[in-house]
Amino acid sequence: MKKIFVTRRIPENGLALLRENDFAVDVSSKNRPLTKRELIKVLRKGNYDSVLSLLTDAIDAEVMDAAPSVKIFANYAIGFNNFDLAAAKARGVTLTNTPGGGAERVAEHAWGLILALTCRIVEGDVYIKKGKYKGWDPMLLHGTNLAGKTLGIIGTGRIGADVAHRARNGFMMEVAYYDIVRNEKLEKDFGAVFYQTVEEVLRVADVVSLHVPLSDATRHLMNKERLAIMKKTAYLINTSRGPVVDECALVEALRRGVIAGAGLDVFEFEPKLAKGLAKLPNVVLTPHIASATELARKEMAELAARNLISFFEGKTPPNLIV
Ligand code: GLV
Repeated sequence: MKKIFVTRRIPENGLALLRENDFAVDVSSKNRPLTKRELIKVLRKGNYDSVLSLLTDAIDAEVMDAAPSVKIFANYAIGFNNFDLAAAKARGVTLTNTPGGGAERVAEHAWGLILALTCRIVEGDVYIKKGKYKGWDPMLLHGTNLAGKTLGIIGTGRIGADVAHRARNGFMMEVAYYDIVRNEKLEKDFGAVFYQTVEEVLRVADVVSLHVPLSDATRHLMNKERLAIMKKTAYLINTSRGPVVDECALVEALRRGVIAGAGLDVFEFEPKLAKGLAKLPNVVLTPHIASATELARKEMAELAARNLISFFEGKTPPNLIV
């Protein structure tokens, strides 16, 4: 019987699937992320064969060395920047993620943020609830039309492509994109126009949506200089990872009117926010919930469990990272 440690409670379907496949499942009893010290302590004691980790767990050399019996860390997340890939490779440790789980939902959430900003939904809601609405006014809370405007996508994996699909077919927008490799399917399916640099997309886009994984190459991809290239009337949407945006530079840009607004589901210093961010009227913030539906969370639980089951059956896990 293989022993697995699950670092925080996840939907029961994933745990049940593991138990049905003869795993002895221990779930952390704490309703919060474990600190690295706590995780190391549990792993040292437990003699586990595998760990089902969350994006909030830093799985680095220290953690791997504390648990040499752990042969696989299966992330319950699409992103995997919490893994030290080089350390895992050097130790022959397997890493997996859950790329299909919740991807479509993240695209829907990105659209939720776009619409909240361009229709001024949050501002309107606050306005009414504060008792300020005294009757229809032709000059009240003007938003931004989307039809015919350009959505800029940075990173056209599954989520980026789903956002582009909705832009083209739902909101009649043009799509401009940058990716490290050209995405001919996106061009064919949605008439997307490829630009060779991020800067070129920023110049033409009315809404910019970020869909890149976090790596050394994408950390602060949106910095002061790049924010300054965006149109003054444009919006920035981030549902990828917080550190892809220099959040202090963003606060400054929003304050000075360098761009019109931002919709953020992820934050550079999560769960902390850069100073001043929460006070700005032209931002809409959500607490890293882009994939938070019951269906998406269950899909993620099943994918993580299936990766573990395949691995211990001696097969290549469906969502192998290294
Ligand atoms: C959420 O951010 C995920 O990576 O699944």
